[in-house]
Amino acid sequence: AKLNTVAKAAGKLYFGSATDNPELSDTAYVSILSDSTTFGQITPGNSMKWDATEPSRGTFTFTNGDTIANLAKQNGQLLRGHNCVWKVDLFVKLWRYLISFFSLGIINSQAGFPLETSIMRHFPAFSRTTAAQWWATTKDKFVDSWDVVNEPFNDDGTVRQFVMSQTIGIGYVDVALKAARAADPNAKLYINDYNIEGPGAKSTAMLNLVTDLKARGIPIDGVGIQGHLIVGALPGDIQQNLEAFTALGVEVAITELDIRMTLPATPALLAQQQKDYQTVISACNAVPKCVGVTIWDYTDKYSWIPGVFSGQGAALPWDQNLVKKPAYDGIVAGF
Ligand code: XIL
Repeated sequence: AKLNTVAKAAGKLYFGSATDNPELSDTAYVSILSDSTTFGQITPGNSMKWDATEPSRGTFTFTNGDTIANLAKQNGQLLRGHNCVWKVDLFVKLWRYLISFFSLGIINSQAGFPLETSIMRHFPAFSRTTAAQWWATTKDKFVDSWDVVNEPFNDDGTVRQFVMSQTIGIGYVDVALKAARAADPNAKLYINDYNIEGPGAKSTAMLNLVTDLKARGIPIDGVGIQGHLIVGALPGDIQQNLEAFTALGVEVAITELDIRMTLPATPALLAQQQKDYQTVISACNAVPKCVGVTIWDYTDKYSWIPGVFSGQGAALPWDQNLVKKPAYDGIVAGF
């Protein structure tokens, strides 16, 4: 059974995978990625982010994002825009801006926070340009959804502090969503975060934010549940939590699923991982407005996990050699 075929038969829009530009030179990898019966949707892992699309202020480079957009289009796959505003990304950007402002002599200690102010002024223009780029290139409803705001909360439910939230507060979310809607009126606009798979302080904060946005008529169509999870340590009540979001009148999607383990992978861990994949997929499957599932790349060969979580990995349904693992059958069984 092929994953996208099974997902669609269960009434979902897609089963998809993230990908990234460097690995597109691996022809064996690309051939699996391009099979639309396996993956009906693609998310660029990095190349539509702010630091990738506007590497220096006012200079936009869409080449890498376009490569992935064109690949998806050629394969008949949906495309998820990822993402417009993200604290982690902006850290990188801030340093680059700082350096360029210094070299231009623009920094003026009397002016308060010129860097922050200028980024806030600049953001709506950025958001319009980026979302409009992939709208204009394709002239159809090709970008199905945008992760407009990425990771707005800390795990305790407080607002994540970074240049935007510190400058105008959580209202930066309104600015971003409105700019994205203006740029692409057809894409579903999402807020995307991790550790909101089960109930807890962070899920409550997200529920409250969405309730508030809906009440004030700010465009919001969906909540992205990233799903960076740990084998044998899934939160309880995933289905119930998805339903809490959809009850607010938004859709949900599992946007970045991977389930990592402490290496080395053993048969017991791989069996538990199979169960855990099945649990997550079943939860989405049981909720009609959970529209689809995306894994954060499909093979352990290109997973981000070992680079970020030391000693952990083997998080995806295909191994380093592009061979299917038990997790694959867990996904099929979940739909
Ligand atoms: C990760 C990419 O996979 C890495 O290649 C990059 O170095 C850092 O970002 N949540 C997100 C994604 O929303 O954008 C992150 O992607 C993983 C966590």
